[in-house]
Amino acid sequence: MAVIINKNIFVLETKNTHYVIGTDNSGNCRHIHWGRKCPVEDYCISETEDENSNHTVLDEMKQEYTPFGKTMYRDCAVKTVFPDGCREINLKFDSYETEKNTLKLHFSDAYYPLRITLNYQLSDKYDIIARWVGISNSGKETITFEKLFSAEFSLPSVKPYTFTNTNGAWGGEFLETNNVLDGGNLVFESRKGISGHTNSPYFIAYQNADESNGNVYFASLAYSGNFKVSASRDLYGITRVMLGINDFDFEYSLKGGEAFETPTVFCGLTQGFGEMSRQINQFAVENVLPKQFNNKPLPVLYNAWEAVEFDVNCENQTALAKRASEIGVELFVMDDGWFGKRNHDRAGLGDWFVNKDKFPNGLGELISAVNNLGMDFGIWVEPEMVNANSDLFRSHPDWTYHYKNRKPNELRNQLVLNMTRQDVQEYVYNMLDKLLSENNIRYIKWDMNRPFSETGAENLENPKMLWYLHTKAVYNIVDKLKKKHQNVAFESCASGGGRSDLGALSHFDQVWTSDNTDATDRMTIQKGFSKLHPTKAMRAWVTDITWFNKPASLDFRFNIAMQGSLGIGGNLMNYSQEELEICKKNISLYKNIRNIVQFGNLYRLLDSDKDDVLMNQYVNDEKTESVVFIAAKGTRFHKKRIPLKFAGLDENKRYIFEFDGKNYEKSGVYLKEVGIPAHIRGVDYNKIILIREKQKI
Ligand code: DGJ
Repeated sequence: MAVIINKNIFVLETKNTHYVIGTDNSGNCRHIHWGRKCPVEDYCISETEDENSNHTVLDEMKQEYTPFGKTMYRDCAVKTVFPDGCREINLKFDSYETEKNTLKLHFSDAYYPLRITLNYQLSDKYDIIARWVGISNSGKETITFEKLFSAEFSLPSVKPYTFTNTNGAWGGEFLETNNVLDGGNLVFESRKGISGHTNSPYFIAYQNADESNGNVYFASLAYSGNFKVSASRDLYGITRVMLGINDFDFEYSLKGGEAFETPTVFCGLTQGFGEMSRQINQFAVENVLPKQFNNKPLPVLYNAWEAVEFDVNCENQTALAKRASEIGVELFVMDDGWFGKRNHDRAGLGDWFVNKDKFPNGLGELISAVNNLGMDFGIWVEPEMVNANSDLFRSHPDWTYHYKNRKPNELRNQLVLNMTRQDVQEYVYNMLDKLLSENNIRYIKWDMNRPFSETGAENLENPKMLWYLHTKAVYNIVDKLKKKHQNVAFESCASGGGRSDLGALSHFDQVWTSDNTDATDRMTIQKGFSKLHPTKAMRAWVTDITWFNKPASLDFRFNIAMQGSLGIGGNLMNYSQEELEICKKNISLYKNIRNIVQFGNLYRLLDSDKDDVLMNQYVNDEKTESVVFIAAKGTRFHKKRIPLKFAGLDENKRYIFEFDGKNYEKSGVYLKEVGIPAHIRGVDYNKIILIREKQKI
């Protein structure tokens, strides 16, 4: 992996690809190539001129980071207002720096004291490049940015690309959508204050690709606030994509002497969607997830939310904890309802003191009971929110986003705290610091249950900065808490998977994927999640919800939930001895395979939405162990006889396993090319195959 420089050409060389940029005679930064490696000396820049007064060269050019202004009329990546009212940027290449695997290209405005740096950092092992933009103002007056994206891409083919993103909702996160972009613009975004349940802050672009073949270009923005991904295709057949903080209602005021860096984009090019997911998965585990827990397998947790909702008390939590420990749970998490007057979602949010009616002896009694049962204790909080019916709101009515002459919307009966205020940040940090300092808590589930509205923030000189500053404040508080309380893991939750991006995962150790725990729906939700998110970070619970697939056996539900970081969320008090034994058996199995699932390489072999049957195989890095999950909610026409073909194994190794009562010993190549026969039929079909390399004697 190297940054190779040939005069004005910069070649970013990853394991299998070249990403090439250059600077032209006018000082523009030009995109040259993203694809297979070519001889470095062949790369060059063609200097071009305006075609005519309506087809300008700047419009046509593949700019690496397009500023607004001059005779450029398409979408730009950066737009400013200078102090004298000038709104045009005139950037010229200035200098570059390289250090190990990093390239910095510096550009300065021809007149104003603005410097823009395009940063690139190469990964040692993967075809992944981190990109971000730095800006600095060396003048005295403020420069205001109206748009400040993290990266722009120009794709190589003149033919249309298909773009994969998600088009989901609460309870239906990560539902994949594919759009062919023939002309015009395609936009995926969030305006809710968080990345949200609908679109995802990434792009995946391809022409003829499937799980194993074809060029797949992708980039994921590590940011949890309002984002925008916009792709366009012009008359010349150039497809451009830009990602960054959403420019909707956005401004960033950069005062004299200040500097700023945009969120990072992780981009890559792979052969097939499967390789894309495997690379981003491994890359994220090694480089994105917070360091405390990235290399440790996540524990099996129990969360009592679906069992009792707000009706928590010391007695019922202790009883559930006892059952949870009997089946092998390692972390017991108490969800909403333990504080203030929180008996429903209409009161108490913000009052983070223990409800004495529910816990007369404080939290200590429950935590000790949980610890004595051999489990760690975790707790739910929703720090960015307040109920109007709370002591916090009564004493600080000005702490929420609001406009003086507008009635605030109370979605889920709550209001959003103005996290851009210093006093609110201190309140939230101190509350959590106290909670963690006084109690033996090893896990925080940080929830966020409504989008912003009435976004007035009188404390800010430029209120349009609130969207960004809110997200930044959340990140800062989590980072500060993690630094002080190093053995506490954090989970990001926003009514399920509403804040599950690589930005959240740079600060939180895992995410709550969806409030929809129906195993059948989860097959699709988890498939979407697996595209550009690490498996380890995906919390998946076995619950009593069987909305779609009725009845779904416990084994079926375990089969699906074991494909992420396993949790249990059903009401164990209602489970029969037989059901508890099924839980015990599966949890024990999961503990044996979780290293392969959480750290291994995923091969999506059959897709329940297209093939009736789901088949996902996880293989460890050494290719010595593998686990295969097969599940079908119900096969049509009575039966399905198919060969099960495996992937990711070493073709030259021999493997042993048992399936359907039969013992197999086969080579990796045979398992890939020929496979083994399976007869998949009936409702609720579910199998787990454990494959091991046959030891040589
Ligand atoms: C929404 C979350 O997604 C649920 O898991 C649960 O924590 C509730 N909030 C609690 O209010």
